[in-house]
Amino acid sequence: MIIYRAQVLDVPDDPFLGGALRSEQDGGILVSDDGLIADRGSFADVRGRNPSAEVCELTGGLLLPGFVDTHVHFPQARIIGGLGMPLLDWLDQCALPEEARMADLRYAQDVAAEFVSGLADAGTTTALVFGAHFAPAVDALFSAASDRGLRVTSGLVVGDRMLRPELHTTAQRAYDEGLALANRWHGEGRTRYAVTPRFALSCSDEMLASCAALHAAIPGSWLTSHVNENPAEIATVEDLFGCNYVESYHRHDLIGPHTVLAHNVHPTDGELDCLATRGAAVAHCPTSNASLGSGMFPLDRHLAHGVRVALGTDVGGGTGYSMFKEGLQAYFMQHLRGARGIPLTAAHLLHLATAAGAAALGLRDEIGDLGVGRRFDAVWLRPPTGTPLDVGLHHAGDPEQALARAFAMGVSTDVARVWVDGERIKTERLAYHHAEL
Ligand code: GUN
Ligand code: ZN
Repeated sequence: MIIYRAQVLDVPDDPFLGGALRSEQDGGILVSDDGLIADRGSFADVRGRNPSAEVCELTGGLLLPGFVDTHVHFPQARIIGGLGMPLLDWLDQCALPEEARMADLRYAQDVAAEFVSGLADAGTTTALVFGAHFAPAVDALFSAASDRGLRVTSGLVVGDRMLRPELHTTAQRAYDEGLALANRWHGEGRTRYAVTPRFALSCSDEMLASCAALHAAIPGSWLTSHVNENPAEIATVEDLFGCNYVESYHRHDLIGPHTVLAHNVHPTDGELDCLATRGAAVAHCPTSNASLGSGMFPLDRHLAHGVRVALGTDVGGGTGYSMFKEGLQAYFMQHLRGARGIPLTAAHLLHLATAAGAAALGLRDEIGDLGVGRRFDAVWLRPPTGTPLDVGLHHAGDPEQALARAFAMGVSTDVARVWVDGERIKTERLAYHHAEL
């Protein structure tokens, strides 16, 4: 048993429904040997109730729940920062040539290692990961994530048209290879399988039907894809299917409570109704939406229709792994929408980056906040002494202000320690500049 002593912040209840930031200035979190949070309160109270537990002093900074990234592409780890193109040009010129390199297993293994380090170093403890078009590369991603201890849901990305020929597969092969990967990884440790049609544009009806069959064949599997990201993409999907984008999935029964669709920047009201009624979640990816010029996310309409929303970095369309940056960009985008924007507080941002993501992935009973009964998935944000963020945290007038400064200025190198299930997954060695800690 260990008591972590720190300033603890989390947002267990949805701030869009009245929830607020929960804070312990000098808090204690008691973690059992198997990684469960067994007690929580002021340090003095928790210490008093558990006098024999070891104490780990996390002096300075903030202890937060581990971040949940609901949309991130492993094969794009090396191409972050391809600026200046809209979606379909960026896919052709930047993303898909790199995705084709995943045919080389050694290359994919190297990228997988870089990718899981990118997540863990940023404080992301759980992610819904877009895999690769090649089964051995997806296997390499699962191996790397599992070695590192991350909670990862991922799968084989499939498509049978309009990509590059070497990325195309067949409906039968997609099913067979997906099932083999799921048999190996689904429910194994912290990994789960996600059936992953790339997007309707690249999938025939036969391919989407095979995805539905695979999803049904793997109990507890997830379904993830893209939707309504860019006007040219949407027009092409409507031409190909003769219906709206959400309907192209829904008619194959791919929209449900285990579905997470990325972007949804340009939905119709009918599409939002369908997503809400079926209980699907949307991964809002604001740095990607800005970088690819996809548009301003209509958070107001998602909330009005009751569609669940979480955050995704969309690496490499997005600009990095940090959920601080993603949260800040979500705030910027709403602020810039004027009267239609939803004013987001730091508590909203933390909720979107943690509990909302956990809910979208069906893991809310286990993770998403630092309350009793949750797994100890946590981030110690502890910026190097004297940096602007360190100064800002020291001089914050209240917890909300401290958290706003964390989102405004926090980067991966400010994340000193990261735990999943009570196990350290970011070591002091990697946090090289924290040697003094
Ligand atoms: N739509 C289909 N593939 C992709 C991708 O890799 N990134 C983004 N942002 N959108 C997509
Ligand atoms: Zn994406």
